[in-house]
Amino acid sequence: MERVTLLRIYGHPIAQKYVKRSGLAHAISTANIAFDYAIERKINPDLAVKAAFLHDIGHFNWYKNGSWDYHTYRENDIHAIKGAERAHKLLIRLGEEPVHAKKIALAILLHTDSYLPDGKLKLEPLQEIVALADEADEEPGGNHHYKPISEKEAIEKIKELDRKIEMKIPTYYNENGQPAS
Ligand SMILES: [Fe+2]
Repeated sequence: MERVTLLRIYGHPIAQKYVKRSGLAHAISTANIAFDYAIERKINPDLAVKAAFLHDIGHFNWYKNGSWDYHTYRENDIHAIKGAERAHKLLIRLGEEPVHAKKIALAILLHTDSYLPDGKLKLEPLQEIVALADEADEEPGGNHHYKPISEKEAIEKIKELDRKIEMKIPTYYNENGQPAS
């Protein structure tokens, strides 16, 4: 089975609509940070990058009079739940390994606890690095969602991530493209 590339994911209308809505530059930075963490902690970078790239695709447009309505957002937001489901559907549609689609969806579901009652979640390593990568790229006032990036720069960075992941593939997939673990 051929690996579903980040470039293919990015090209799909679902990603085009929702990754851009919550910030393409933030998605790409988070994916890059997640790649580095994944290599450091010996976690499959393909899963980490995909989860990080898609982590915010569940966002709704919380705009009121042209600006982000933070209060309404905090009160009503379930973007991690919506994002997990949306990402899962997209990945399965593109032919992602179902076991991997589930892991990516769970990492998205658990990348924030902002919608959960107080308490601590015990995260698995993949889930932890996606949450940490997101935090590392966060800016005050949600500004990370508005960082500009040109289409050309985005595509270059996405291809570079695919290239870096593919260099690591022998560690995580056997010669038939099946997950090694
Ligand atoms: Fe985020």
